[in-house]
Amino acid sequence: MGEKEVSRRDFLGMTLGGVAAVGVGASLVAMKSSWDPLPSVVSAGFTTVDLSSMQDGEYRQVEYRGNPVYIIKKTAEMKKCEDRDVVVGNADYSVGIQICTHLGCIPSYSADTTEFHCACHGGKFDACGKNTFGPPPTPMTIPPFKIDGQKLVLGEEGPEYLKLVNKA
Ligand code: FES
Repeated sequence: MGEKEVSRRDFLGMTLGGVAAVGVGASLVAMKSSWDPLPSVVSAGFTTVDLSSMQDGEYRQVEYRGNPVYIIKKTAEMKKCEDRDVVVGNADYSVGIQICTHLGCIPSYSADTTEFHCACHGGKFDACGKNTFGPPPTPMTIPPFKIDGQKLVLGEEGPEYLKLVNKA
């Protein structure tokens, strides 16, 4: 093996390493922006989320007992779902565990179409979390919650949650 060949390989190795490092950095940035949580406090299995900073139409994700939970603040134009909407103050929110009810993938939300799309087998859910297309058999699960002023406390079965569960 000539010296030239070795240095060319080293160079290639370094280049690929560099590309990989940039790739990892870019995906961390992408993860950060899609997982940027609302101000929330997790303690003893409860996740407390302050909703007061959310804008109309905004989608965010928080973590609740190791699962992603979506929160969407509905605009006046968005379809209401009385059997699923969480009313806090004078705003309606859609809240659910963001796990596909087919085989457990994490569907992604598009603010443009106001739909969740599951890349695994093409399932779709509307902004209320109801299954609208493909193999998912049921809507996404509403986690137990209670409302405390402008805060949503995930992990406790408040009267608003019990009312929704009885309607479903
Ligand atoms: S896991 Fe979502 S459609 Fe199959």
